[in-house]
Amino acid sequence: MTLSEIRQKYLDFFKSKGHAVIPSASLIPENDPTVLFTMAGMHPLIPYLKGQAHPMGVRLANSQKCIRTGDIEEVGDNRHLTFFEMLGNWSLGDYFKPESIGWSYEFLTDKEWLGLDPLKIYVSVFEGDQDAPRDEESVAIWQAQFGMHDIAAEVGVAGRDEPASTNRGARIFAYPKSKNWWPDPKMKGLCGPDTEIFYDTGKAHDPAYGQVCHPNCDCGRFVEIWNNVFMQFQREEEGGQLKPLPSKNVDTGMGLERTTAVLNGAQTVFDLQEFQVLISAVEGKSGKKYGTDDAATRSMRIIADHARAATFIIGDPRGVLPSNVGQGYIVRRLIRRAVREGRRLGIREPFLSHLAGVVIGEFGGHYAELETNRTKVIDAIMQEEEKFDKTIEKGLKEFESMMADHVITGEEAFILFSTYGFPLELTQELVGERGGNLDVEAFKREFEKHQELSRTASAGAFKGGLAEHSVETTRLHTATHLLQKALRSVLGDHVAQKGSNITAERLRFDFSHAQKMTPEEIKQVEDLVNDAIRRDLPVTREEMTVDEAKSTGAIGLFEQKYGDKVSVYTVGDFSKEICGGPHVTHTGELGAFKIQKEEAVSAGVRRIKATVEGEKR
Ligand code: ALA
Repeated sequence: MTLSEIRQKYLDFFKSKGHAVIPSASLIPENDPTVLFTMAGMHPLIPYLKGQAHPMGVRLANSQKCIRTGDIEEVGDNRHLTFFEMLGNWSLGDYFKPESIGWSYEFLTDKEWLGLDPLKIYVSVFEGDQDAPRDEESVAIWQAQFGMHDIAAEVGVAGRDEPASTNRGARIFAYPKSKNWWPDPKMKGLCGPDTEIFYDTGKAHDPAYGQVCHPNCDCGRFVEIWNNVFMQFQREEEGGQLKPLPSKNVDTGMGLERTTAVLNGAQTVFDLQEFQVLISAVEGKSGKKYGTDDAATRSMRIIADHARAATFIIGDPRGVLPSNVGQGYIVRRLIRRAVREGRRLGIREPFLSHLAGVVIGEFGGHYAELETNRTKVIDAIMQEEEKFDKTIEKGLKEFESMMADHVITGEEAFILFSTYGFPLELTQELVGERGGNLDVEAFKREFEKHQELSRTASAGAFKGGLAEHSVETTRLHTATHLLQKALRSVLGDHVAQKGSNITAERLRFDFSHAQKMTPEEIKQVEDLVNDAIRRDLPVTREEMTVDEAKSTGAIGLFEQKYGDKVSVYTVGDFSKEICGGPHVTHTGELGAFKIQKEEAVSAGVRRIKATVEGEKR
């Protein structure tokens, strides 16, 4: 079965259980400065999990594009990917554990759906601690489910009981928060126990990993395929007490590639047809064979993964191009690492944009944005490969002479980065291969000196879990709406949003406009926004269809983001905009608004950076 077959089956199944299928949100989070990329299906749904009504209802499902670069160094082994699709279903205060577990079991085992052998399925639950009790409900529900197939699922102890491959014995294993809690155990916000579903590949246990195997054993016998999170608590502050929630949510995530690999009996995700097509193309260009030697196999896996990731990031509706900051730096790193692996395999000509074309052909059916942005993706990857090619040989020579003393100083690593375009991680890899030393901290200090923005992946701005929408970012988000409206009033209706980014300190807004704004125009825009703030206008949200939104004069991106219905935020008599929130309830919650900078980004696009004072006036 292919990725698209499994994806479709999953969505069809949850549709049959009353779920609205919503499109994947952008890979680049909107108005959430705490993460660079969307890392889980629930991430774009945080406002709704926190209680805001979703326009499509209380049961949702989708396939979400995700990037996890925390695993980037691991890519090349048999299971890590930077880009993957997460299948998810959600209950927003609607159904809870019995339905969630029951449907997971039905989807996995029913012949009409995936038809897996129930004896191959094992689960884990939360074992309980001083903070929250053991999840007995989930244990009982699982036992009833397995019972339908006459399987007596007993609760086993990890490391002591052998997982049962027969109809009787240990099948449910309890673990602490480190395994069965989402998100991070101490994190503030919505959280709860989860139950994970594992598939038994039948591989013999490797005693190097412990005497007795269990679902979370690292020997490779069990593969985790699905995580059902029961958001039943709220943690008021980091490390603080848990409070039960009156309205409980379910958040699930199933890794599409891993599940498909398991269903096909494939050894690794790279054996899937979608990856093999990419790998064959690399074989053709390099003359090397996949699976014959470890180094070549690893290089081909890295290229296949990175080609997919770069294509999806650049081809996203909010796509970013290679650069030296933020998400752009990740794209640069992915492309350059793939190119270097290609050179290692002996490919001399540019090859990566060709692979991007293959990725678009494979996934453009479900993710139409890839087809729309085909030229942009191909051109960007081609240019980046050319740019890197021009300096890579010289850079490697420079590196060799720097390495004469077996040490790369922070300054040297920075020269490789800035003059030869070597991402820090590439230099690290090269140094590692020679058994030398690299002073990463010194590099970062050097980097900070030269960069305005320190929030890059290399600085470790990559955290998992529930992002808190801080008060500051919410204020700045509302200020962005006021700014857009004021710009249209002062400069004209040709002003359209070209990009937006918010951190706790400032908003950044890119918009179409040909000339530099005059000081008078800047002053007028500030005055209009500050006037709207002084009038303490109410901010209200309504749900309507895209057509209705258009007819009320709402501005915003009219792509059908949430399917049929969209949220429209109205600020008094001032502005009306399609948006996912969150916002303040009254503009008076914003302090004085100030434009700090107005500059050009590219031909016909201007950028404003602005702040609001925190104090309530
Ligand atoms: N949010 C949960 C996860 O990513 C489902 O595992």
